[in-house]
Amino acid sequence: MNEALASLLHAMPELPPGHVWLAGAGPGDPGLLTLHALSALGQADVLVHDALVDPRILALATGAELLFAGKRGGRPSADQADIAATLVKLARAGRKVLRLKGGDPYVFGRGGEEALALAEAGIPFRVIPGITAGIGGLAAALIPATQRGVNQAVVFATGHGADDGDVAGGVDWAALARLGQPVVLYMAITHIAEIVRSFLAAGMPAETPAAVVSQATTPSQRVLISTLAALPADFAAAPLGTPALIVIGNIVKMRAHLLALLPDLEQVPWRGA
Ligand SMILES: C[S@@+](CC[C@H](N)C(=O)[O-])C[C@H]1O[C@@H](n2cnc3c(N)ncnc32)[C@H](O)[C@@H]1O
Repeated sequence: MNEALASLLHAMPELPPGHVWLAGAGPGDPGLLTLHALSALGQADVLVHDALVDPRILALATGAELLFAGKRGGRPSADQADIAATLVKLARAGRKVLRLKGGDPYVFGRGGEEALALAEAGIPFRVIPGITAGIGGLAAALIPATQRGVNQAVVFATGHGADDGDVAGGVDWAALARLGQPVVLYMAITHIAEIVRSFLAAGMPAETPAAVVSQATTPSQRVLISTLAALPADFAAAPLGTPALIVIGNIVKMRAHLLALLPDLEQVPWRGA
């Protein structure tokens, strides 16, 4: 490690006993960890992590006991209240607790609920942001989240609604369609057909470019390019693994433009070993 990097890491805040740090691990590739997260991994004596965190990242926590508290759609998952209670208990026992989540802890990661539970229990905590899948995963698929002249906003939405216990209820798909701006959907794969139907019914053009980006930033990354109307059938014909994002909007076109110019581009950052 060069000296400048070593001194940067050395000057990072200390994780004290009895504190909890809620950190994001990024969308998959360990190279997308922040230096703060790296520093925390080296300091924690217990690491409470979810299912989307790469084992190579977990391996960086050499001095930590590993506790799995994952949640995966459709599978039995750890109860959110239990996870929060575990964090509180570990902190009260004087542990140096790192809670590591995929992407960013505050983006569809229930990090806000954990932060509230810690604050209510009087446990000091810090949040270390991570690169969310909707930003990092899109970039890895050669799709810019915003592009001058193409979009003026980008919407991040969850495909899960009231069925996931979301107190805010389901998404108003018609309202999103009327915005005329790209929509990036997390946790939406199982609802792909209903979501597309809702967008079409709300008047979103059938030819709107659409993509599914699966396992973004990992060597297994795959990208399906389609249109809004054809997306469910194209996805059914070539089912991609999870986790996956759905992207709907004109920003998707950029990928084909870039690949037409530089066909090898996609393989550069995320190739396997
Ligand atoms: C529970 S949410 C967690 C999101 C996370 N906190 C973030 O900021 O990226 C899980 C969803 O994120 C998306 N996701 C996470 N990692 C991904 C990846 N590497 N590739 C594609 N989608 C991903 C998928 O839509 C998945 O269903």
